[in-house]
Amino acid sequence: LKCDEKLSSAAKIFSKLFNLQFDEQQATSNVEYSLDKNLAEEEYILSVKPDSIKITASEVKGAVWATQTLRQLCEKGAKEDKILIPCVEIRDKPRFSWRGVTFDVSRHFFDANEIKRFLELMSLLKLNILHLHLCDDQGFRVEIEKYPILNEIASFRDGTLRRDGKKYIDGNRYGGFYTKKEIRQMVVYAAELGIQIVPEIDLPGHTSAIVAAMPEISCRKEKIPVRKEFGISTDILCAGNSDTYTVIKNILDEITELFPSEYIHLGGDEAPKQNWKTCEKCQAKIKEKNLLDEEALQGYFFNYFAEYLAKKGKKVIGWNECLNDTLDKNIICQHWTPVTMGKNPITVKHINNGRKVIVSDFLKTYFDYPYAMTPVKKVFSFDPFTTLKGIEPDKMQNVLGAECNIWTEWIPDREKLDFNVFPRILAFAENVWRNEK
Ligand code: ACM
Ligand code: ZN
Repeated sequence: LKCDEKLSSAAKIFSKLFNLQFDEQQATSNVEYSLDKNLAEEEYILSVKPDSIKITASEVKGAVWATQTLRQLCEKGAKEDKILIPCVEIRDKPRFSWRGVTFDVSRHFFDANEIKRFLELMSLLKLNILHLHLCDDQGFRVEIEKYPILNEIASFRDGTLRRDGKKYIDGNRYGGFYTKKEIRQMVVYAAELGIQIVPEIDLPGHTSAIVAAMPEISCRKEKIPVRKEFGISTDILCAGNSDTYTVIKNILDEITELFPSEYIHLGGDEAPKQNWKTCEKCQAKIKEKNLLDEEALQGYFFNYFAEYLAKKGKKVIGWNECLNDTLDKNIICQHWTPVTMGKNPITVKHINNGRKVIVSDFLKTYFDYPYAMTPVKKVFSFDPFTTLKGIEPDKMQNVLGAECNIWTEWIPDREKLDFNVFPRILAFAENVWRNEK
């Protein structure tokens, strides 16, 4: 096997895949990986001739995708020791640069080995972004050295709502978190597979697990347990308390140090404001900053951390509820709300004014829902420009791409994960890669 140094991780995957699947050392003898800077990012040329295989790409992702295509072309021969690969000449590149999966590891925790397996499956489908939803009301899933109490308290809960036939709370202690070492290994392995891991620290809502560990940075300051049930919690972070800003900056310092991605997701969805309405500190902050109301306070809170992270060279992503006219124009929006919530025109307006957007579709890309609601055919009908109508032709490039979404309230293990995700994710992956149906 010959390989340009810059593409070596793709060659490594080639060897690993083929040994794993076919135990065929010889398969690698006439294989060449070479660099051609004239190809676009992620583009590849795969040339299979009777006695050689040649892969050309401008960077490692393209070489990985070519390797995965090769894997998909393989058939086992009639004789057990032969692999058959059709002679082909393929030149291909993706429709969107952002082809992602939102994976909620808070409601149910999928450990580092499960994530590695999932990354391998994503790479096979040429999906290149794993957006890890690392914390929510039901658990905080990453080691933070500055605040061990987060992992001691916020990473575990004393039961989980189940609904197998009837609804009940199982009463079992449940939880876990990724150590920093595990995250570092995951990030490296992901990059070898052509995937970038984007961390999400959802703020200021979906944070009641943090509040359970640190009630002092909530408005009510009341000690609460990590949630066993699902849905939307009103125990959100206090946006008037300067300690909240300090704690979150310290957490973000460790997250940005841990994840090399230039992107970080700060959530911003489903943050009910009733506690802010009656909190002295939140109301004082609204006055001090001359803000219109509690929604504007969320905008201020979001901009504050976006500015903090921009100084570290990070681009911030937020769920579309965080959109308002004062939101920093560099914040990328991830659209998710169903059309019936009436927010699509707001997102479209932002896109037409230059904001970058990632599109999810509650009715088509939410794989936590049953197949009766979201069958494969519906996933195949997903198109970002159908979900968001009215984008001006010269603004279409503001749509970076799309993410399918795996919320895990009712996905406790690998078996249910695979049932919910496959085959729907194949339809999704095809839609974000192909230019034509
Ligand atoms: C979401 O589904 N709350 C982003
Ligand atoms: Zn408050």
